[in-house]
Amino acid sequence: MGKPASEAVVPRHVAIVMDGNGRWATRRFLPRVAGHKQGVESLRRCVRACVDRGVQVLTVFAFSSENWNRPVEEVSGLMDLMVGALAREVPRLTRDGVKLHFVGERGGLSEKIAAGLLKAEAATATNNRLVLNVCFNYGGRWDIARAAALLATRGEAITEASLDAAMALSHVPDPDLFIRTGGEQRLSNFLLWQSAYAELFFSDKLWPEFDEAALDDAIAAYQRRERRFGQTSAQLADNARRDPQAA
Ligand code: FPP
Repeated sequence: MGKPASEAVVPRHVAIVMDGNGRWATRRFLPRVAGHKQGVESLRRCVRACVDRGVQVLTVFAFSSENWNRPVEEVSGLMDLMVGALAREVPRLTRDGVKLHFVGERGGLSEKIAAGLLKAEAATATNNRLVLNVCFNYGGRWDIARAAALLATRGEAITEASLDAAMALSHVPDPDLFIRTGGEQRLSNFLLWQSAYAELFFSDKLWPEFDEAALDDAIAAYQRRERRFGQTSAQLADNARRDPQAA
């Protein structure tokens, strides 16, 4: 049982696995990289839509630790797309108030890309309408292992709070809504720790076709969910009676 529409809350943090670029291209007899190129267009539209709807954080899976295993031409196509996007998108992102943050292992990236990521982050650092986390050379297990190793190096105890603070997304709240496009229903090593209480939404649309209306469908589905965080429905109703603001 969700809240009535008048009280509907926009998810503060939306996370997306942008799946289906390859199939979008193949169905049009195009190379897979053409699908990723169209995926960048779809991402641009989605960022704008999130800003317009008051979403505060958008986290997208652009390149996984496992994507290195794809054909060489696809990997280099994705790297070229990243270089192009870094050069082109920053002015528009700044106009829209978007602060860029790249999440993932930078050690494995070329110097050109690593420098481009830093430059884009610095150029958008004071923007404050939406944080856009682009996960690039990222894996959820990598993130957890890296955080644990960091704590071990510092000689700190491993607790939920200390691990959470050492993770790559410690600068934002956990995702409220986790969307995967492309018809598959799995997490694929994305935000494993952070999605403990995320509402999952699976769309059959391929990522290049995921438009504003599709985002609105996902947000509407989220608004119909009851987020209990381990409590019962009766407890939630009781909390709402006692503190209507917090509910
Ligand atoms: C999954 O679709 C998508 C990716 C591995 C890449 C997602 C990247 C973008 C949308 C572009 C934005 C990123 C950059 C580099 C600026 P898939 O290829 O697995 O599709 P398929 O399941 O149909 O084969």
